[in-house]
Amino acid sequence: MSTTLTKTDAAYQLCMSPQCAATFGIDEILTTCPECGNLLDLSYNWDQVAVPSSLRDFEARWSTRTNPLDFSGVWRFRELIPFAPEDKIVTIGEGQTILQQSDRVGQFVDVNSGNLHLQYEGLNPSGSFKDNGMTGASTHARMMGAKAAACASTGNTSASLAIYASTAQLFEVVVFVGSGKIAFGKLSQALDFGAKTIQIQGDFDDAMAQVREVCGQRSIYLCNSVNPFRLEGQKSTIYRVLEGLNWEPPDWIVVPGGNLGNSSAFGKALRELKELRLIDRIPRMAVINAAGANSLYELHEERGLRWNNGDVDDALIESFYDEMDRAERRASTLATAIEINRPVSLKRCLRALAITDGVVRQVSDEQILDAKAQIGGGGFGCEPASAASVAGAKQLRAEGVIAPSDRVVCILTGHQLKDPNATVAYHSSEAGAIDAKLSDAGVDSVAFPNRPVPVENEIEKILEILD
Ligand code: F0G
Repeated sequence: MSTTLTKTDAAYQLCMSPQCAATFGIDEILTTCPECGNLLDLSYNWDQVAVPSSLRDFEARWSTRTNPLDFSGVWRFRELIPFAPEDKIVTIGEGQTILQQSDRVGQFVDVNSGNLHLQYEGLNPSGSFKDNGMTGASTHARMMGAKAAACASTGNTSASLAIYASTAQLFEVVVFVGSGKIAFGKLSQALDFGAKTIQIQGDFDDAMAQVREVCGQRSIYLCNSVNPFRLEGQKSTIYRVLEGLNWEPPDWIVVPGGNLGNSSAFGKALRELKELRLIDRIPRMAVINAAGANSLYELHEERGLRWNNGDVDDALIESFYDEMDRAERRASTLATAIEINRPVSLKRCLRALAITDGVVRQVSDEQILDAKAQIGGGGFGCEPASAASVAGAKQLRAEGVIAPSDRVVCILTGHQLKDPNATVAYHSSEAGAIDAKLSDAGVDSVAFPNRPVPVENEIEKILEILD
């Protein structure tokens, strides 16, 4: 099946393991390498692609935004994601997202004025960064003539796949979610966009295992981030971050880590930009786990697991997972989007950490929710998982790993309205009276609540409160 011929194509699939390095055409639907079982990447012969000589050249596309490909915040960088014929691209205007400086959040993190930036991916059509990748996966599904597509999800991937399928009307969609903690905003999206929604009695990892099996048995196109075409679209967040900084790389990019697709895509994007000499320096990346779902943190920071030029210590990973199973430890966090035990892109993320001289941290639900309230107070609503980035940046600053003079970009991955229950529970709490949803999760204090004030329907009473 593997053929060296594909290495001469402009784009081909390449096993991520340098020790295997098997190659496959982009006209094959694969989610793992048939030779060694590792994940696949897209690889390009850049000399066959008309890559602009400067990132600034992409700015010209702002003036041709009536072309849907130039309007898309993913495909206006299409020479850096060059796998699709233009007439096959499925786009719904994803990636219209912005980088914003926030001194309010900067003060909270404790970096110098002007140095804290938020990349607000919640502005995507389905309200999360997943659309950046789903346009890539949907495009490849279309290239392959897929009739049905599926994913497992903690909520946002399913909402994203559902919106693409309903807009493009090219394939049927089935999404698998755990029956536990999917936030209602996300579940409601999958239902409203008409996706067949299967709630498995189990968590994300159970849903992930089942969807892989189902896709194999029924020849359904799998849209989880094991799919290398999805990760190609997710590289675009990095391009937009750089664009927002006038093409000057920041010192740090801080991103929440769940299934680890996003951080993996960021590492690949940065490596490619450096190889193409479009940037001269690679920023450091910090991947932030929720403490209740901290497999990457445990493996990378506590047990020293490294990419090691592709020679990853599989036995260490397996023994860690066995230990988790024996202790019956399952991921549990109010940041439900990242409540994942066995991240499928673990090794890709290790590679990204090696490329970026990266670090991993874990933050508690309390830290996450306090950071979320600060982000909201600064005018950028986000869901709990997203706020892990700001909480992580604050922690790294307190440790002295991030300096006050560093330029820091935190990725806000999902919109505030995805999980209003978490927001209301936080703001309704006070010392000694923490909302049950929060206290059940171990949160016993809230630093920045903004409680609704109950009042009788009488003008004097209302004015009393305002005085
Ligand atoms: N933030 C949000 C809002 C997410 O929905 C996710 C992942 C992440 C961060 C973590 O990103 O998986 O690339 O490391 N959500 C997936 C889902 C798992 O099914 O929607 P990652």
